[in-house]
Amino acid sequence: MLNAPIRDWKGRRVWLIGASSGIGHALAKALIARGAKVAVSARNGAALHELAATTRPANVLPLPLDATRVDQLEAALREMTDAWGGIDVALLLQGTHEPVRAWTLDSAVAHRLVDTNLLSVIDALSVVLPTMLRQGSGGIAICSSVAGYRGLPTSLVYGATKAALINLAETLYMDLSPRGIGVWIVNPGFVKTPLTDRNEFPMPALISAEEAAGHILDGLASGRFEIHFPKRFTRWMKLLRLLPYGLYFRLVRRFTGL
Ligand SMILES: NC(=O)c1ccc[n+]([C@@H]2O[C@H](COP(=O)([O-])OP(=O)(O)OC[C@H]3O[C@@H](n4cnc5c(N)ncnc54)[C@H](OP(=O)(O)O)[C@@H]3O)[C@@H](O)[C@H]2O)c1
Repeated sequence: MLNAPIRDWKGRRVWLIGASSGIGHALAKALIARGAKVAVSARNGAALHELAATTRPANVLPLPLDATRVDQLEAALREMTDAWGGIDVALLLQGTHEPVRAWTLDSAVAHRLVDTNLLSVIDALSVVLPTMLRQGSGGIAICSSVAGYRGLPTSLVYGATKAALINLAETLYMDLSPRGIGVWIVNPGFVKTPLTDRNEFPMPALISAEEAAGHILDGLASGRFEIHFPKRFTRWMKLLRLLPYGLYFRLVRRFTGL
């Protein structure tokens, strides 16, 4: 078993970044329903306050922030630890997507993707790690994507940020596991959220945000390092990962038409 399984969420102090919509919102609701104390972050403060008001206000701490601002991340963790005395689990689900191809590559878009998907995760780690290392306990889950397995058309920068997160999580695991801190990498396939609602192509094996949240909870309860779903899609993506470049490029072109 690679991580200590988390099965009982009652009273666990969780910080979930990316809780205002999509997978993070559904996961926050599921955790609150299981009795966790959840500090919820994202830029959309109204959505976070509504989440608190419509679930268990005493167990939900809305901490609106822009995750690309390390000072805001620091202030939020301070507020959480002042309120609850520490942090048990950090769930880093913040992310954004914009399709980019070689001929639409734009520096501002690329920086936005890297800042939101990669640097904000690194900054959040730099903020939570001193506390978890001092405690000698905790767990961190980072949301990447199967788009991080290999290059895919339209994912010119998004895919690079997600590949970097997988590498980051692997290295983090090796450092933190001996110190009693769990690390998970979450690699979803297609999930229906505001992020994918913009996609104009048919998304195979599309699941709901609630199903995705269920898979993440199952994964955290399983003791595995990688949480990937839905398996009927991600298993194929894992197989593609093993192919030599010539075959991989041909198959991707055939399947996507791009
Ligand atoms: N949907 C899929 O098919 C899919 C597949 C693979 C991986 N993923 C990954 O899953 C994660 C969640 O995505 P989703 O599909 O649920 O999309 P979503 O509904 O757009 O959720 C993204 C979340 O990230 C937050 N966020 C974005 N920028 C932020 C910032 N600067 N500061 C703080 N929070 C920020 C958003 O909140 P605010 O806008 O309020 O800040 C929102 O809560 C992402 O990492 C995404 O890459 C999704």
